[in-house]
Amino acid sequence: QEDLFKNVISHAKEYGYIFASSEIYDGLSAVYDYGQNGAELKKNIREYWWKSMVQLHQEIVGIDAAILMHPTTWKASGHVDAFNDPLIDNKDSKKRYRADVLVEDHAEKILQKAQKEIEKARKRFGEAFDEEQFVNTNDRVQRYLSERKEILERLGRSLTNEDLKDVKALIEELGIADPETGSKNWTDVRQFNLMFGTKLGASSETASNLYLRPETAQGIFVNFSNVQKTGRMKIPFGIAQTGKAFRNEIVARQFIFRMREFEQMEMQYFVRPGEELKWYEHWKEVRQKWHFSLGLGEENYRFHDHEKLAHYANAATDIEFNFPFGFKELEGIHSRTDFDLKAHEEHSGRKLRFYDPELQENYVPYVIETSIGLDRMFLAVLSASLKEEELEDGSSRTVLKLPAILAPYKAAVLPLVKKDGLPELAQEIIEELKWDFNVQYDEKDAIGRRYRRQDAAGTPLCITVDHDSLEDRTVTVRYRDTMEQKRVPVSELSKVISEETDF
Ligand code: GAP
Repeated sequence: QEDLFKNVISHAKEYGYIFASSEIYDGLSAVYDYGQNGAELKKNIREYWWKSMVQLHQEIVGIDAAILMHPTTWKASGHVDAFNDPLIDNKDSKKRYRADVLVEDHAEKILQKAQKEIEKARKRFGEAFDEEQFVNTNDRVQRYLSERKEILERLGRSLTNEDLKDVKALIEELGIADPETGSKNWTDVRQFNLMFGTKLGASSETASNLYLRPETAQGIFVNFSNVQKTGRMKIPFGIAQTGKAFRNEIVARQFIFRMREFEQMEMQYFVRPGEELKWYEHWKEVRQKWHFSLGLGEENYRFHDHEKLAHYANAATDIEFNFPFGFKELEGIHSRTDFDLKAHEEHSGRKLRFYDPELQENYVPYVIETSIGLDRMFLAVLSASLKEEELEDGSSRTVLKLPAILAPYKAAVLPLVKKDGLPELAQEIIEELKWDFNVQYDEKDAIGRRYRRQDAAGTPLCITVDHDSLEDRTVTVRYRDTMEQKRVPVSELSKVISEETDF
């Protein structure tokens, strides 16, 4: 699994998907650039989401709000006061950690140790092994397990000052050491706000403090009335948006899983108060179907329902994906009540209500939110698609089995040789296809090597032009996944590509 993750990262670079940001200056931590193939794949994921959510839903419309918003937005949303991570420094190493991650990692290690012990005992006692009994009689294991449970319960909610003290006490009680130096000399735990600040205006006296938005959702809430009125929207209806968000993440690791600058795809669905849980269930189902439709393997997804809820939510779940480092959050679905709209009403003094003609009543709608990270989805797609395959002749190939609809290039057009008019016919075919599909020309190296290169880059189809093509205007179409080949008239290429790659 660890190897798979390393392979994904190096493959992403080698094939022009993802580069470290400003790499010639040694990069910027947790910031990444998308290369020539990455930009296409990312755009295709975004489009697939937009089509499914907006184009296919008459009652959902899309907007594109600004990254910079009036600063009161973040007061109302709760981000100024509560969008914090608990931080702790090691006094000896001067290294800074997220206290909750430190504790969770420690607990994870203990759990693994306990599981190894149980495994050993299972082997030793065979049939007679009784896990319950073993755990009950093994003090150490039991302590480990119950400690982990308590810790996770404490950390699963936004922490008060009291909690921060408790977390520090826990770190000491568990004897957690700096993972790099082994030192146990810790500072107190304190809150660190994750929003990036910036300034509006030139002079330092008059400039006002702004934030780069930490989520796209607030751009939707503040535009609720604009869209509802101008679009004559009737409840239930949704507003969708994709765009950049920024968080000053302390623990930035796992490649594009946790970034400081990332993109979200969010939709807020406004419903009648009291009907929110019905819609919550509905959107759980719809979003699951969306994921399954891409064919990355249904076994790679699971729901993780939240037991501890944020103060504004009355139901919440994560869709988790089986990343190379285990099941982790990919998308959140939240029943956010009327928290945000009410808060914006209070802070702005404007009414954010809907007159429901059926009920003949004015109310602040309730909201179901679906929120997915585009970069995280990119990582899910990339890591589930990268395969090392043994072939019948004993050789192997690296193939990126991207869902065809998401692939950067739908087809590569390859002249068998670089002469005899084959390149010209290949170019002619590209001229024809390029209006409808992203296609690529490739004439370098032997045809076998070109096939392998396109396999590894994720191109679903190769179109090979040979000497017969000049005579009968047919070409060979080769399929990435099966490596099957068939002869196709040039006039039918468009149809063949559509069949393979359409929505
Ligand atoms: N409006 C709700 C919201 O922002 P969230 O759970 O904080 O909820 C939603 O974020 C999604 O955004 C996550 O499920 C994840 O896919 C993505 N996301 C959040 N922080 C991220 C980060 N630092 N890097 C990449 N993606 C991130």
